Amino acid sequence: MSRHYAGDCHGSSRNTGLVILVTFLFIHGGLGQRVKVETEVLSYPGQTVNLRCSFNDPSGIQLTQVTWIYEPVEGERVNIAVYHPNFGAHFPETPQKGRVTFVTNPPSLPNPSIQISDVKMSDEGKYICEFATYPSGNELGTTSLIMLAKPKNTAGAVTAVAGTKPAVVARCQSANGRPEALISWVTTANGNASTVSKTGADNTVTVVSEYLLVPTAADNGKDISCVVTHRTLTKPESFPMKLAVEYPPKVTIIGYDNNWYIGRTNVELTCQANGNPQPLTVKWKILTGEMPDTVVLKENKLTVLKVDEAVNTTFICEVKNRLGTGKEQVTALVRGTRLPEKGATTGIIIGAIIGVIIILAAIGSGIAMYRRRKKSMSDGPPTFQPPPPKKTNSSTDRLINVHDPVVENRPLQEQYYNTQSAEPVTDLDTYQEEEGEAPKDRVHYYSAAPSGWDDPEHNEVPPPYLYTYADDPQAAPQDGVVNRGDSFVSAAMFV
Ligand SMILES: *[C@@H]1O[C@H](CO)[C@@H](O)[C@H](O)[C@H]1NC(C)=O
Ligand SMILES: *[C@@H]1O[C@H](CO)[C@@H](O)[C@H](O)[C@H]1NC(C)=O
Repeated sequence: MSRHYAGDCHGSSRNTGLVILVTFLFIHGGLGQRVKVETEVLSYPGQTVNLRCSFNDPSGIQLTQVTWIYEPVEGERVNIAVYHPNFGAHFPETPQKGRVTFVTNPPSLPNPSIQISDVKMSDEGKYICEFATYPSGNELGTTSLIMLAKPKNTAGAVTAVAGTKPAVVARCQSANGRPEALISWVTTANGNASTVSKTGADNTVTVVSEYLLVPTAADNGKDISCVVTHRTLTKPESFPMKLAVEYPPKVTIIGYDNNWYIGRTNVELTCQANGNPQPLTVKWKILTGEMPDTVVLKENKLTVLKVDEAVNTTFICEVKNRLGTGKEQVTALVRGTRLPEKGATTGIIIGAIIGVIIILAAIGSGIAMYRRRKKSMSDGPPTFQPPPPKKTNSSTDRLINVHDPVVENRPLQEQYYNTQSAEPVTDLDTYQEEEGEAPKDRVHYYSAAPSGWDDPEHNEVPPPYLYTYADDPQAAPQDGVVNRGDSFVSAAMFV
């Protein structure tokens, strides 16, 4: 989208806020520079502008006279206002005469600000406040008066006909602005902008930008926006539009399934067309003479009521709009016997696949149920279940191998059950395989099993080897060798 967005840095940065009269105060307060003025003043035609000026710290200095000098954008400097304490104020013959006055009456030598009423576009330029002083000589400060005119912005898409030469597809105008407006384009279309600006009366500028494109059918309806940036606008003004490209109809025929057999009824062809302007007429033709009686035409549909040799031919669909005709044809081949229908074959295949999936699922759930039953038979209360691994950690996986030779000898898939499955059932299965092993091995196994525990102390379920018989003394083992399955069974019996 940004491809054609020609940003204008100098324009927009100055445009951040419009202040009619005063932009910012700049003190010409450097060494020896004691004349304080504003660097820039903005105004619209017809307004009154204040041009402020003061002499900073006049102690020890003799101010003898002040002169306001106007320097047009083009042309000679002229004095527009002079003040001498002894001789008073004087306004020489200039374009500003009659509109320029000192702000105070009588004027003040240290603060000789002036105002110009009914400002005109032609008043734009520099205004210099110059003091004649003793002993330091002349000192001055300069203010730029910038005249603004709010432009009238308009935009519109231009309908073009698809072709091979660039054509104007959109136009945007910013009329009678000052300073000159900036126009940019935002679009995904692959064209170029061409911008022309013209200075009119009153120093205002009219900018016209045209977007050029080699128009194609695909460009029709694409988004395009013209963006006008101007100092008098707080934010750029955007004009969203849609490209309009006209093109002759593009035609496709759908519905022929290559299985027209003698005796088949109600086969249908549909003629689809798009174009700009929207196509109005659809015409079906047959390559060989007259349309057979068995064929019914309605709008863009062609229906063969009953297939016979007469429709063993080529059908043509012609669609017209103002720009031309689009054509498409399909050759029907009439067969003596029907082909096995494509749809049916795929149906059978899909059915077979679904059947296999169902069988597999049934087998799977059977196995799962069997395991669960086995597990619940050997399992104690749920609190004794090892928690599911919360997180897999390859270093603990490796631990299993290091500490437990039994685990090491298991097939790879089981060794890495931590990464394979979150089902605690897997743990139990593994455990059950180990039944009958020496208790020492089991302890090792469990110390490695809860590999996913981030923080064993805060786990709500203790690992099985932490089980104490305090809660359930009857379940306490009678001898040193405790088989987990036995203890659970006895606990269940006593409850
Ligand atoms: C757009 O401008 C580029 C270079 O500036 C040029 O190569 C291209 O042909 C132009 N395209 C159109 C549609 O004018
Ligand atoms: C239809 O025409 C093709 C040749 O275009 C021919 O081979 C075929 O036998 C014809 N079918 C019938 C039913 O006449």
